Amino acid sequence: MEPATRQLIYVSRDPSAELNTRFLQRGWHVEVVGSAREVRRAVRAGMAAGGLLDLSSEFQPHEIAAFESCLTIPNVGWVAATTPGQLQDAALRRLVRDYCFDYVTVPYSGDRIVDSVGHAYGMISLGEPASNDGSTGAEGEMVGSCDAMLALFRSIRKVAMTDAPVFISGESGTGKELTAVAIHERSARRNAPFVPINCGAIPPHLLQSELFGYERGAFTGANQRKIGRVEAANGGTLFLDEIGDLPLESQASLLRFLQERKVERLGGHGSIDVDVRIISATHVDMTAAMIEGRFRSDLYHRLCVLQIDEPPLRARGKDIELLARHMLERFKKDASRRLRGFAPDAIAALHNYGWPGNVRELINRVRRAIVMSEGRAITARDLELAEYVEIVPVSLAQAREAAERQAIELALLRHRGRLGDAAHELGISRVTLYRLLCSHGMRHMEGEPLATPHGELPVSVPHL
Ligand SMILES: Nc1ncnc2c1ncn2[C@@H]1O[C@H](COP(=O)(O)OP(=O)(O)OP(=O)(O)O)[C@@H](O)[C@H]1O
Ligand SMILES: [Mg+2]
Repeated sequence: MEPATRQLIYVSRDPSAELNTRFLQRGWHVEVVGSAREVRRAVRAGMAAGGLLDLSSEFQPHEIAAFESCLTIPNVGWVAATTPGQLQDAALRRLVRDYCFDYVTVPYSGDRIVDSVGHAYGMISLGEPASNDGSTGAEGEMVGSCDAMLALFRSIRKVAMTDAPVFISGESGTGKELTAVAIHERSARRNAPFVPINCGAIPPHLLQSELFGYERGAFTGANQRKIGRVEAANGGTLFLDEIGDLPLESQASLLRFLQERKVERLGGHGSIDVDVRIISATHVDMTAAMIEGRFRSDLYHRLCVLQIDEPPLRARGKDIELLARHMLERFKKDASRRLRGFAPDAIAALHNYGWPGNVRELINRVRRAIVMSEGRAITARDLELAEYVEIVPVSLAQAREAAERQAIELALLRHRGRLGDAAHELGISRVTLYRLLCSHGMRHMEGEPLATPHGELPVSVPHL
């Protein structure tokens, strides 16, 4: 089925407003980009798109050369726009011949070009989405086409348009950092720094100076001034990773910074205005952390204005295979032989396994399998998942339990952790949902009040 909106990547230095409107009228979502880097950022792995490469807009030869790597991205169907005589240039001629479905020469008719890009898109859509070979290899490329991931991509695009703090929650290895980078790269701050700080990895006594910096002589050993991470992110995005592990004393200073938007270096005399966008992430259950007094709720509410939930890999259905193939393509040069793909038993195991380590674990297993594999295709054994080849739920009770768990997980994901709404959708009471969460080991029994709103996370990113 064709998606309601088709994406057009319009590469031009001098985009035509008229053409843009014509594409919009014909149901395209147009993204105008001006460099190879922006093309890579605009492409969504595994999703077909049309591409219009406007060679008539006077790109420099080095820019054209850089575009070549983008033209090999497998899920974009390209059409070039050229000026008369431009294709006398051998390099351009080769580029158009090797990578484009069609080309038009100025002056061209708008309808002709929209039709042409439509055909290129159609041809590309015939391809196997899983065969997206990731040859862009770009860091920060997010693979996914299941409903949960498409909702995540929409949320990323929406939150990127604002400056409000974003809070990303999700299990370990689900892609929280990748999401934070994607938000930054799509935001108006993309050309300013993205500064990550792992709040859990820095010893508490150093955290303060890491965050806010110090002046020379502030303490013994402070031989020169150090700019803190908050100040280093000025104009850009500060990514507070593992925020759930931030010690209480640093929480107070961070809260003060969020209120005043000024930093004072240790041993300094004045304060400095800082303009940063805050994105934070954690795999910690923040509701529990607040109840247990490990995290200040006033800070949490300042950080969590917009919330994004990263879906666990086991809830991504076909995407598990898509990701595995993507990683195989990306890393297969590490293999001593030519690998053809995954054997059927490997595919079964990929789906039966629970992926506690999520995407990171999948990458590690595929990479190890690439090196260890002795055949032409990767087997379940190469993935060290031989025991998951059998369909796992052996009894009806186990099958029911697995289905129940998945339904709960998806409902919570859809309602972004709001127990009341998820319970309503599942047709059970909140108390029953809570009991089920505990029995499935998805939440701790102790201490969480049911009658107060604390069990529900604030949410303000509406899904489309
Ligand atoms: N959708 C995706 N497509 C491609 N690669 C992904 C995707 N999600 C995650 N990855 C990759 O998986 C690895 C883990 O991602 P990331 O570090 O963003 O996870 P995380 O949630 O921050 O994990 P942790 O909680 O352990 O810090 C990275 O190598 C990242 O590039
Ligand atoms: Mg991380």
